[in-house]
Amino acid sequence: MEGFFHALFFLIILLHVISTARRAATAAAGIKQAAADRAALLSFKSLVDDDPFRALSSWNNGSLHYCRWRGVSCGRRHPDRVTALNLTSLDLAGFVSPSVANLTFLRRIDLSDNKLDGYIPEELGSLRRLRYLDLSVNSLRGTIPSSLGNCSNLQVLNLANNKLNGEIPPTLSRLSGLRDILLNQNMLQGTIPDSIGNLSSLLVLSLDNNNLSGAMPPSVGSLLSLKTLAIQFTSLTGTIRPTLTNLSSLKELGLRGNNLHGEIPHFAELLFLSFQDCSVNDLSRSIPISLGQLSSLENLILGMNYLTGEIPLSLYNLSSLKNLELANNQLEGTLPSDIGNALPNLQFLHMSYNQLGGRIPASLSNASELRHLEITVNEFHGTIPPSLGALQSLSRLELAVNRLEARTPSDWSFITALTNCTGLRVLDVGCNLLQGMLPKSLVNLSTSLLYLTFYSSQLSGIIPAEIRKFINLTYLDMGINNFRGTIPIDISHLWQLQYLDLSNNTLSGEIPPTLGNLTRMDKLYLGSNEFEGAIPRTLSNMLVLELLNLSNNRLSGSIPQEVLTLSSLTNFLDLSHNLLNDSLPSEVGNLINVRELDLSNNRLSGEIPDTIGKCAILEILHLENNLFQGSIPPSISNLRGLKKLDLSKNFYSGQIPAFLDELPDLHYLNLSFNSFEGRVPMKGVFKNASEVSLIGNSKLCGGIPELHLLKCTSDAFATKHHSDYKLRVILIPICGAILCLIIIICLLGIHHLIKNSQRKPQSRFSLRNRHAKVSYDELLRATNGFSSDNLIGTGSFGSVYKAAMNYENVDTVVVKVLNLQQHGAFRSFMSECEALRSTRHRNLVKILT
Ligand SMILES: *[C@@H]1O[C@H](CO)[C@@H](O)[C@H](O)[C@H]1NC(C)=O
Ligand SMILES: *[C@@H]1O[C@H](CO)[C@@H](O)[C@H](O)[C@H]1NC(C)=O
Ligand SMILES: *[C@@H]1O[C@H](CO)[C@@H](O)[C@H](O)[C@H]1NC(C)=O
Ligand SMILES: *[C@@H]1O[C@H](CO)[C@@H](O)[C@H](O)[C@H]1NC(C)=O
Ligand SMILES: *[C@@H]1O[C@H](CO)[C@@H](O)[C@H](O)[C@H]1NC(C)=O
Ligand SMILES: *[C@@H]1O[C@H](CO)[C@@H](O)[C@H](O)[C@H]1NC(C)=O
Ligand SMILES: *[C@@H]1O[C@H](CO)[C@@H](O)[C@H](O)[C@H]1NC(C)=O
Ligand SMILES: *[C@@H]1O[C@H](CO)[C@@H](O)[C@H](O)[C@H]1NC(C)=O
Ligand SMILES: *[C@@H]1O[C@H](CO)[C@@H](O)[C@H](O)[C@H]1NC(C)=O
Ligand SMILES: *[C@@H]1O[C@H](CO)[C@@H](O)[C@H](O)[C@H]1NC(C)=O
Ligand SMILES: *[C@@H]1O[C@H](CO)[C@@H](O)[C@H](O)[C@H]1NC(C)=O
Ligand SMILES: *[C@@H]1O[C@H](CO)[C@@H](O)[C@H](O)[C@H]1NC(C)=O
Repeated sequence: MEGFFHALFFLIILLHVISTARRAATAAAGIKQAAADRAALLSFKSLVDDDPFRALSSWNNGSLHYCRWRGVSCGRRHPDRVTALNLTSLDLAGFVSPSVANLTFLRRIDLSDNKLDGYIPEELGSLRRLRYLDLSVNSLRGTIPSSLGNCSNLQVLNLANNKLNGEIPPTLSRLSGLRDILLNQNMLQGTIPDSIGNLSSLLVLSLDNNNLSGAMPPSVGSLLSLKTLAIQFTSLTGTIRPTLTNLSSLKELGLRGNNLHGEIPHFAELLFLSFQDCSVNDLSRSIPISLGQLSSLENLILGMNYLTGEIPLSLYNLSSLKNLELANNQLEGTLPSDIGNALPNLQFLHMSYNQLGGRIPASLSNASELRHLEITVNEFHGTIPPSLGALQSLSRLELAVNRLEARTPSDWSFITALTNCTGLRVLDVGCNLLQGMLPKSLVNLSTSLLYLTFYSSQLSGIIPAEIRKFINLTYLDMGINNFRGTIPIDISHLWQLQYLDLSNNTLSGEIPPTLGNLTRMDKLYLGSNEFEGAIPRTLSNMLVLELLNLSNNRLSGSIPQEVLTLSSLTNFLDLSHNLLNDSLPSEVGNLINVRELDLSNNRLSGEIPDTIGKCAILEILHLENNLFQGSIPPSISNLRGLKKLDLSKNFYSGQIPAFLDELPDLHYLNLSFNSFEGRVPMKGVFKNASEVSLIGNSKLCGGIPELHLLKCTSDAFATKHHSDYKLRVILIPICGAILCLIIIICLLGIHHLIKNSQRKPQSRFSLRNRHAKVSYDELLRATNGFSSDNLIGTGSFGSVYKAAMNYENVDTVVVKVLNLQQHGAFRSFMSECEALRSTRHRNLVKILT
């Protein structure tokens, strides 16, 4: 017995000795490791180049032990070894240092929600103890390192919301302990590796919003624990069933935005089902009745699937539903009157763009958590139930484009009721049959309103000045009604306003200049009212304005040049059908982004400014029915995208410039009722009599026979003018505005001199009559031996040099040297002389000899 105790005592001592020795050895190694961990952390810090919250300020060589640095945790058994690094949501920018991999005891890394970029270090693959890696919501680039397949203890891999590309590494399927894979919102390509089926513990597989291809691998069907499968917007193809049939634990299934086919299997536990835009179920094309058996379903998203027929009643058995999204289908029928009792947990009900009818069920107020009710573009009728005012959480109420009625003041009581919904942000009831005056209680709606529409109803009365209370309003559409009175000045307090449509009413008075205070405005429609007075110059303060429509009013005075400086205008500027007079300011050339300019039906006069040629994006130009005169400016030829040009009913004169036949997209040209003369071109838009209108110009001739114009008497005259314009187009860019005179010299002894001067700009003389001779020596000197310093430009037919030589009171001339080996060079030269001799333009050079 005693022997036994001795033996036991000895054994205990022995064990003690062994463990002490081991601890001593471990301690020695630990000191070394500790230094390595500190160095690794400092190295991590060194690659963080922005730390706005100074989160890493404690990370330094000071006295604070690194285990107490912010975001660093150390182990209990190995108190000097870093086991977790958590620096989430600190706006850190920079690279992830590979030295993180030197923290060999790391179990958790959370660097999510920062601004890290660069690559995911391959070295992380050596972290054998790592269980949790979250680098989501950063800007990481490059591929997912396949070495991560070596982190054999990994349970959670979250790389979502970065800029990762390349393929999903198949090595991940070695990680048999993985529970969550979140790679969504990246730019991953390739197929989903079939080996993913080996991850039998997987609960979450989230690959949505990537650029994957191919079918869903059949092995996904063996991920029997899977609760969430999110592959929406991944461009997958193929069938759904039978791959997924066995996934009986599935709670969330996101399939929308793919090209998948087949029926959805029954998933008893499903909470979330999204197969919007998926052409699922394309055989029956109706909502499967069986969906009603998914009794736990919380989210059912079936939008954009061409579904037809009625909504099966079984759906109203899904009492857990929170989110029901059936928008953009062709569903018919009515909503059951007790829908709010049947689906008491509804938060989002989105059924816009269908053919649903009947009344809006008053019982919806019993779905007391309802936040979004969107049923626009359907055929609902009847009044809007005031009971909706009981929905305390209501934030979006979108009922536009239905046949909802308000004929008596009591039908409007829904507005008063909605004043209880203090979180209401969107009220969209436009395009219904709402009549009469806006109820006074309107101004008691929530001041959180962002979006308010009553367009295209039959509303009358004035626009209440108290609308200024909705200080966060960004979108206000009251167009197409019978509102009268003036624009309330107070509307200019709605400084967040981006969209204002008051068009097609009978509003009158002046447009308040304070409207210009709404500097965030991007679309402003005030057309088709009875506004008078001048266009306020202050509108030019709307520096992001894309679209301005003031047409069909009685606005007078000149067009303020300030308004024409709005280069933000991209869509259109429509000032047509007013009483605007005076000339068009040359500032119109600032509208460099505008697609459509309509100034028609005013009293504008003078010439079209040449600057119009700077409106390079212009596609549609309406100047008809004004008092414009002069000729069509050559700069119009710069408007290469012009599709429609209407100059009719003005006093334009001169030739129809030939460049119009070279505008490639011009398919509507109306020059009627002007005083154009001369030959009508035959090419381009002039080839098709249905695309051009020239009537009411008695001096035009030629053109295609269908235009029924007189024959031209002098063909030569017209041809010459034709080439005039061509050459202007070619020469303006080459020669620019630098020069006053030109000498054109042909080598091989052609030295023709023609005398010309500014005093006789229109003089016509023959090329053959007078030759002023300039010797080759003179030219050689003047151009410094045709040195490259004096070279202005080179074209296909020759080169142009600047030359210093005194000639007819000027001291700089241009010499053009032809390359006669180039086929056509001589002919080109002759037609150039022919053209230039009668052409005058400040940006165009004149021929000396
Ligand atoms: C990390 O470990 C590697 C290899 O052991 C070593 O070369 C490197 O210097 C270490 N980095 C830091 C910052 O300690
Ligand atoms: C921290 O101290 C070590 C030695 O104590 C030194 O080698 C290292 O350069 C220091 N690092 C910094 C960032 O000061
Ligand atoms: C990191 O810290 C945040 C709070 O600062 C916490 O919510 C998060 O769960 C932590 N991450 C890990 C992986 O522990
Ligand atoms: C880690 O993974 C890479 C890439 O998958 C592999 O080449 C390497 O051999 C692995 N390293 C170890 C130590 O297993
Ligand atoms: C998946 O598991 C099967 C058998 O269980 C095995 O043959 C295959 O190699 C595994 N694939 C990967 C990529 O681990
Ligand atoms: C998606 O991948 C295809 C090739 O599979 C490629 O042509 C396409 O450009 C990619 N799209 C994006 C947005 O990366
Ligand atoms: C589903 O499970 C059944 C029975 O367990 C099995 O026979 C079938 O192969 C499985 N289907 C898929 C796609 O895994
Ligand atoms: C709705 O569920 C009840 C039982 O919860 C069931 O009796 C009824 O048949 C179901 N209705 C439909 C249309 O599926
Ligand atoms: C709105 O609130 C008032 C007072 O809180 C209440 O009397 C009224 O019934 C409510 N209206 C609706 C439609 O719930
Ligand atoms: C207006 O918007 C701002 C910023 O979103 C918000 O802080 C403020 O509470 C809003 N005002 C109202 C009255 O809702
Ligand atoms: C609005 O603009 C006018 C000038 O157009 C200016 O005098 C006034 O102070 C501005 N009001 C606000 C509230 O900014
Ligand atoms: C608005 O009024 C103009 C004429 O003033 C008319 O051409 C246009 O069709 C009207 N728009 C609508 C939607 O009624």
